[in-house]
Amino acid sequence: MRKDFLWGGAVAAHQLEGAWNVDGKGVSIADVMTAAKHGVERQITAGVQPGAYYPNHQGIDFYHQYPTDIKLMAEMGFKTFRTSIAWSRIFPQGDEVEPNEAGLAFYDRLFATCLKYGIQPMITLSHFEMPYHLVEAYGGWRDRRLIDFFLHFAKTVFKRYQHQVKYWMTFNEINNQTDYTKAFFMATNSGLVLKPDDPQAEALMYQAAHYELVASAKAVQLGHQINSAFQIGNMINMTPIYPLTAKPADQLAAQKAMQTRYWYTDVQTLGTYPNYMEAYFKRQNYRPDITAADRAALQAGTVDYIGLSYYNSFTVKAQTNQPEYRFLGEQATVANPYVQASDWGWSVDPDGLRYGLNWLNDHYHKPLMIVENGLGAVDQVTADHQIHDDYRIAYLKAHIQAMKTAIEVDGVDVMGYTPWGCIDLISAGTGQMSKRYGMIYVDQDDHGHGSLRRLKKDSFYWYQHVIATNGQDL
Ligand code: BG6
Repeated sequence: MRKDFLWGGAVAAHQLEGAWNVDGKGVSIADVMTAAKHGVERQITAGVQPGAYYPNHQGIDFYHQYPTDIKLMAEMGFKTFRTSIAWSRIFPQGDEVEPNEAGLAFYDRLFATCLKYGIQPMITLSHFEMPYHLVEAYGGWRDRRLIDFFLHFAKTVFKRYQHQVKYWMTFNEINNQTDYTKAFFMATNSGLVLKPDDPQAEALMYQAAHYELVASAKAVQLGHQINSAFQIGNMINMTPIYPLTAKPADQLAAQKAMQTRYWYTDVQTLGTYPNYMEAYFKRQNYRPDITAADRAALQAGTVDYIGLSYYNSFTVKAQTNQPEYRFLGEQATVANPYVQASDWGWSVDPDGLRYGLNWLNDHYHKPLMIVENGLGAVDQVTADHQIHDDYRIAYLKAHIQAMKTAIEVDGVDVMGYTPWGCIDLISAGTGQMSKRYGMIYVDQDDHGHGSLRRLKKDSFYWYQHVIATNGQDL
């Protein structure tokens, strides 16, 4: 393990800050998402509706409690803390010229607190929290004008925090929208709020994703002009897709599924659309608005590193009625008989992390940064305020071991590891609080009730030791 390995933890603004309408912050897409649970999707309402419960409005009140929280992270020995800057705190509507100074001042304070403890902030520019006004007035990322709004936001924060932040990422899990039938992915990735079964959904997704990819590439160039020391990455969800059997048709199905899910990374790292995507657009008669200037920007703005989340793996088998296998997402998968699943049905597959790291290394030859990994689980607090989360420790231990093998045996260049939700926060997928990932417990239930008191779980002390030994002692 390298000596400067970036151990830390990861969160996103909308899932923990709360203070959704404080100090001039505007409404974001996350502010109009209701609470749900496993098997029930979050609703995206038309604006903030009276009487509806929106868990992100309060988050875990990190906006006010961050000094305590960062202190706890420092106690664990964090070298880095990954969070996002809520776009609607800086540009409440998204299309203003002048930023909201109170929003900028919040991140001044937050980053100064991190740096005081020697923790480097690592920032995602867009993590499921675009200003809702851009959704309503422009239809989200289907509109080319979003590129300039995003770049104006990026430039503002690059300039403001150029001496505090070195590591940046553009769009969180840009490839989630591969499943264009899921309202949640379309809304959180691209601000596309569509009617169920909209026949335009797939074509709109490709258009929106293209504009995001151009915005991402231009942001990389802009960032490097502002500070050449910046390290700017993309961020993809790496879910390896296995074939169910050794049948050649299953192998091909898995290969096609990987292409469908990872072409975004080709564009962001190699600067060009892969041939299979160009061929697919032709076959489908899709003509996304992709200009020569866009292609030049993609080529000029390739990322410095690949940021990835890893939680689970998928398995597929060929569909006999579908000669050209098309992969959507989880709904197109089959159960893998060799792996267990979490209470929320996510497969638990540490080898998949080693596989995914190798796959990315083989394809792109860029440094990798694991910016999310973790187990969402229900925790019990004992009468004496302890949380014995040995299941979480077991999950993290197995995954760190897999990462170490990828580094030490396979020679993969991994810059760091920031497990997801190092402090309990609102689940993105379900809006629940009870789906906990943290090493720090937060006393709040699924209805927003609780003291918000912070407690150290067993995993807190375990991870502290892992960091202290630079991953030698798991
Ligand atoms: C990733 C997201 O998809 O997974 C996070 O980047 C999210 O925002 C995390 O919270 C875990 O998913 P969930 O649905 O369990 O919160």
